[in-house]
Amino acid sequence: MICGMVATLVACNKKETNPDMDSNVMLEEPVVKTVDSAAAGKHEGLALIEGADCLTCHKMDVRVVGPSYQEVADKYTAGDLDMLASKIIEGGKGNWGEIPMTPHAGMSKENAKKMVEYIMTLKK
Ligand code: HEC
Repeated sequence: MICGMVATLVACNKKETNPDMDSNVMLEEPVVKTVDSAAAGKHEGLALIEGADCLTCHKMDVRVVGPSYQEVADKYTAGDLDMLASKIIEGGKGNWGEIPMTPHAGMSKENAKKMVEYIMTLKK
């Protein structure tokens, strides 16, 4: 007698956005298909931002929970790239108000810098 066993695999979909900010610490590196985004002429930093949780709190031109990326670009210069990349990884508050930005501890400095590089392209 053949005994068939059916294993039900439950796919665990990664939540893109979580309005519950306390559990919004992103530990995983967003997966970005660099080739695809390059083919679409999209800045790699933008692809990374879209792949992470950033847009829950940031919009390009309107202040939501955090400052708009436009405001960030206008406030800083290329020399602040390193500091801003660290801030994305470590989180923090005080530059725009008392609402803190959640840390993104699993993010590499390299990717965080690409995100900041993209944000800087919004400078007017
Ligand atoms: C939970 C909401 C939230 C999420 C998610 C979030 N941010 Fe922020 N972000 C903030 C807030 C609030 C501030 C303002 C912090 C301050 O006042 O210093 C901020 C500030 C920033 C700044 C400016 C830092 C400074 O010191 O002026 C950058 C750059 C930034 N965020 C990028 C990102 C990127 C990139 C992501 C995604 C990886 C992200 N943020 C995700 C809320 C968020």
